[in-house]
Amino acid sequence: MTAEAVRAALGRVLDPEIRRPITELDMVRAVSVSGDVATVELVLTIVGCPAADTIERDVRAAVLGVAGIATLDLTVGVMTVPEREALVARLRGTRTTQFGPDTLTQIYAITSGKGGVGKSTLTANLAVALAARGLKVGLVDADVFGFSIPGILGLGPEARPTKVGDLMMPPSAHGVAVISIGMFVDASTAVSWRGPLLHRTIQQFLTDVWFGDLDVLLLDLPPGTGDVAISIGQLLPHASVVVVTTPQPAAADVAERSGLVARQTGQTVVGVVENMTGELFGSGGGDAVAARLGVPVLARIPLSVPLREGGDAGAPVVLAAPTDPAAAAILALADTLAARGRDLTSRKLPLAPR
Ligand SMILES: Nc1ncnc2c1ncn2[C@@H]1O[C@H](COP(=O)(O)OP(=O)(O)OP(=O)(O)O)[C@@H](O)[C@H]1O
Ligand SMILES: [Mg+2]
Repeated sequence: MTAEAVRAALGRVLDPEIRRPITELDMVRAVSVSGDVATVELVLTIVGCPAADTIERDVRAAVLGVAGIATLDLTVGVMTVPEREALVARLRGTRTTQFGPDTLTQIYAITSGKGGVGKSTLTANLAVALAARGLKVGLVDADVFGFSIPGILGLGPEARPTKVGDLMMPPSAHGVAVISIGMFVDASTAVSWRGPLLHRTIQQFLTDVWFGDLDVLLLDLPPGTGDVAISIGQLLPHASVVVVTTPQPAAADVAERSGLVARQTGQTVVGVVENMTGELFGSGGGDAVAARLGVPVLARIPLSVPLREGGDAGAPVVLAAPTDPAAAAILALADTLAARGRDLTSRKLPLAPR
C-alpha cells in the first residue's frame, strides 16, 4: 500500500526538460518500502544530466511527503543504452505528429514586412505571458541570420539543448522551451546559409527538438517574405500568422504582403498587432493592414522604455513590470490568443502508461 503511495508521489515529479512524469519515462526502476523507509532506484537519461539536482530534490520532497515515510534511501543511476533508445523511440513516436496537421498545439508564426518593428520582443514576451498563464509554451527562433530571442529571454551562451539519443531537449527560460540557432553557433559567427540549409535547420528545429506536448508554439520569423517565411509556410501550412506592423501608413504595403504570402501557403492570418503605437510614428498603420487583409487588430502596443530595457536585460517586461502599458497590452494579447484555442485542459497525454 505505502509502496503504491510512494509510486503515486513519484508520478507527480516531472523531468524538467522532457516535462513528463519520471514514472512515465521509465526513470523509476524500483520502489520498495520497509517500515518507514522507502527505497527508490532512479535512472537518469544521460550521464551528467543537467537536471539531475532538480529531479533528486523533487523526488526527495515527493517521497518524504508521503504519510508514513520518514527516510528515503535513494540510488541514482543512468539508463542503459537500450533503455535510452527505447525511451527516445517512444518520445519520437509521440512527436512525429506533434506539429502535424492533427496537432492540438496552437501554432503562431509572428511575421512582419519591415525589419525592426518589434517582432522578437513581442514574441518573447508573448511566450512568457502565455507560460505565466499556465500553458506549456515553446518558442522557435526562426530568424536564423538575425537571431535575438536568447538575449531577450536572458539565455546566456551556456544555454544549449541537452542531447538524449538523437533528440534535443531545448533549454527553458521563464517557463518557455526555447530553441535558436544562437545555441549552436558562436556569437561572433555570422550565419549565411542558402535556402536549402535554412530549410533543413527549421525542419530540424521542428522535428529533432523535443518540445513535448505543447499548448502553444510561437515562431519568431525574420522580416519579409524570404526563404524562412516560405519554409515555415511549407512545413506548417496549418499555422496561424500574426502580422506585426508599426503605425506608419507607409509600412502597410510590405506588412500586407507578408500576410498574403502566408495565406498562399495555406496559413491563416489571424490578425495584426500594431507596435510602437504613439504620436511619434504617425497613426493608422495597424488599421490599414488589418483592413486590407480583412482581419482584426489584435493589440496596440505603445512605445515603452521598460519593454525595450527588459529586452536588452533579458528580463521580459510582462514579468518584470506587468503594469507597464506595453506589458499590459501583451498580456491582454496572450489572453486573446489563448482563448482562440480549443479546450486544452482536457487533453490526454499522448504517452500512455504501460
Ligand atoms: N513597443 C516598443 N517600445 C519601445 N521599444 C520597442 C518596442 N518594441 C520593440 N522595441 C525595441 O525595438 C528594437 C527592435 O525590436 P525587435 O528586435 O523586437 O524587432 P524585430 O521586428 O524582431 O527586428 P528584426 O526585424 O531585426 O528581427 C529593440 O531594441 C526593441 O527593444
Ligand atoms: Mg527579430
